[in-house]
Amino acid sequence: TLPLDGKHILVTAGPTHEPIDPVRYIANRSSGKQGFAIAAAAARAGARVTLVAGPVQLPTPAGVDRVDVETAREMLAAVEAALPADAAIMVAAVADWRAADTADQKIKKDGSGQPAPLALTENPDILATLGHHAQRPRLLIGFAAETQAVADHALAKLAKKGADWIVANDVSGDVMGGDSNTVQIVSAAGIDRWPPMFKHQVANALIQKVADALSAQPD
Ligand code: C5P
Repeated sequence: TLPLDGKHILVTAGPTHEPIDPVRYIANRSSGKQGFAIAAAAARAGARVTLVAGPVQLPTPAGVDRVDVETAREMLAAVEAALPADAAIMVAAVADWRAADTADQKIKKDGSGQPAPLALTENPDILATLGHHAQRPRLLIGFAAETQAVADHALAKLAKKGADWIVANDVSGDVMGGDSNTVQIVSAAGIDRWPPMFKHQVANALIQKVADALSAQPD
């Protein structure tokens, strides 16, 4: 038997794209590599895996059910449709804001030299929605990309989002699009600092920790 046999693990990965008009969008910088590596590791550990992916250029890992989405609202709908899950690992870099109105036609320069106004509205917070959901996964894990005071920000985020763990990564270096990552796992139990590792090693270690947590408190 494998450590996650019979478990359903939900993972979000990649950026979201929030359209402004037919040719422009707002996005976060995210390759999707860390989330895809986590989905792959969960499948190798025997889980049924649903991977809700924003727009990325990555192949679907073996044994993973992939749902492709574009926007934060589509990502939230796909996540809710995938419930119930034993654990959810929200790795996606969701855009915090979207255009208040999406233009049907390409917005043109009007020749005045003044830029077209762009009104924004806040997107739903998918992690926080799950944290307070009637079908909240037993283990809810968020990511936090920070450039400073990494652990402090992660502790604040735990409470705000209703998550069990925050995987805080220091993105002051060249994590974005790269193959390695330095993370700290912040939970009510304390802070677990991991050395710099390849993203696939972070994925394996995190999935091992998820399997340990799920078996320590069986349902
Ligand atoms: O607040 P911040 O964006 O730093 O939180 C990061 C964590 O929250 C990540 O796990 C990310 O996937 C999740 N998140 C989300 N929906 C949002 C914003 C962030 O699920 N709208």
